[in-house]
Amino acid sequence: TFEVKIASTGQCFEVPADKTVFSVLDENGIAIPVSCEQGVCGTCITRVLDGVPDHRDLYFTDEEKAKNDQFTPCCSRARSRTLVLDL
Ligand code: FES
Repeated sequence: TFEVKIASTGQCFEVPADKTVFSVLDENGIAIPVSCEQGVCGTCITRVLDGVPDHRDLYFTDEEKAKNDQFTPCCSRARSRTLVLDL
């Protein structure tokens, strides 16, 4: 379990093991565009302002993943307790 924080509003949401970041945000009225939901297309890319993503997509290069400044909320998770999203 980790949490995502919405930078613009300060809202925090827990992301349980059986849900994606996308689905938790969607349930809370924060819509992120998605298409493949499998980490392939890049449609859902969201900027990360703080925290370390656990990249599970096939879209970013290793170099892009290492920057930890964006992730794919349809499938990727977090290595840190909190991910602050530029939303
Ligand atoms: Fe395709 Fe997230 S929706 S990578």
